[in-house]
Amino acid sequence: MKSTPTGLHDILACPKCKSSVTLTDVEAICTSCAQTVALFENGVWACGRIGRSYFDSRFETMEDSYSNAGVQEIFYRRQSHSVQQIIGPGSVVLDVGCGARMRYASRPDATIIGLDPSFASVAQNTAGIRICASAAEMPIQDSSIDLIVCFYSLHHMVGLDHEGCSEQVLHAFTEFARILRPRGNILVFEVTLPTPLYLIEMVSWKFFRSALGSRMDMHFYSISALREIALRATRGTMVGLKITRFSSSPFRFFPPILSIPRFRIPRILSPLSPIALHLQRD
Ligand SMILES: C[S@@+](CC[C@H](N)C(=O)[O-])C[C@H]1O[C@@H](n2cnc3c(N)ncnc32)[C@H](O)[C@@H]1O
Ligand SMILES: [Zn+2]
Repeated sequence: MKSTPTGLHDILACPKCKSSVTLTDVEAICTSCAQTVALFENGVWACGRIGRSYFDSRFETMEDSYSNAGVQEIFYRRQSHSVQQIIGPGSVVLDVGCGARMRYASRPDATIIGLDPSFASVAQNTAGIRICASAAEMPIQDSSIDLIVCFYSLHHMVGLDHEGCSEQVLHAFTEFARILRPRGNILVFEVTLPTPLYLIEMVSWKFFRSALGSRMDMHFYSISALREIALRATRGTMVGLKITRFSSSPFRFFPPILSIPRFRIPRILSPLSPIALHLQRD
């Protein structure tokens, strides 16, 4: 018989009404809707109807890119360190868009929850609790998380047009504010576009989405656009928002397309700059 992971009953909620759930070894039943809202499959709490995800077949190839020294230097080394610094004793940490692997070391007394809509990715992850779901509708109880981290996932939350994409990210931040405990922290790492390129993307994204379909699975933001979405979604609940830019040598080579790890360019040729967005709840 499978055992229920520690603390799960304090964290898992109905994805629709956010009520608490009754857990068995194989399913979660909403105490309000009385419906089965999550199934426990291969160690993952799979919520709702989850379709196939682009990342199901990509995460293995992407691992080659992650081990590249340039990728580590530009996108992960300092970022991971800042997560490690902020995980406190007994913290409940939610990694949104966790993929197949956590990118930071944790503490033995922390509870790490990995959440990702790609079932194949999250099933590979070693987080203590694994949930297959989208950031836009999280099956997590109100005020139950001390730290939310999100490494390079927001730009994958896409809709049908520019407004639809921004709305997905707005939903994600609204969810972050809902599930965060008082004094809890949100640390989002993203790659951002300079404003002129963001404006070009804004008017052309829908055309490329119509032409390429679901292959057009990324939508990037300028720093100010991301800041505005985060503030709009979390208005009145946060004490501050801090943005950190991560600079690195313009001649650092790295693979810009994670699924093509052998193709490398110097950072100066990439329009995308990594930032951290740090919010703390009141
Ligand atoms: C570039 S990968 C990053 C994975 C991991 N965070 C890392 O840095 O190694 C982006 C991840 O975002 C996830 N993702 C896509 N849409 C999402 C959504 N709506 N909610 C949460 N995660 C999402 C993907 O499945 C994928 O695992
Ligand atoms: Zn419910």
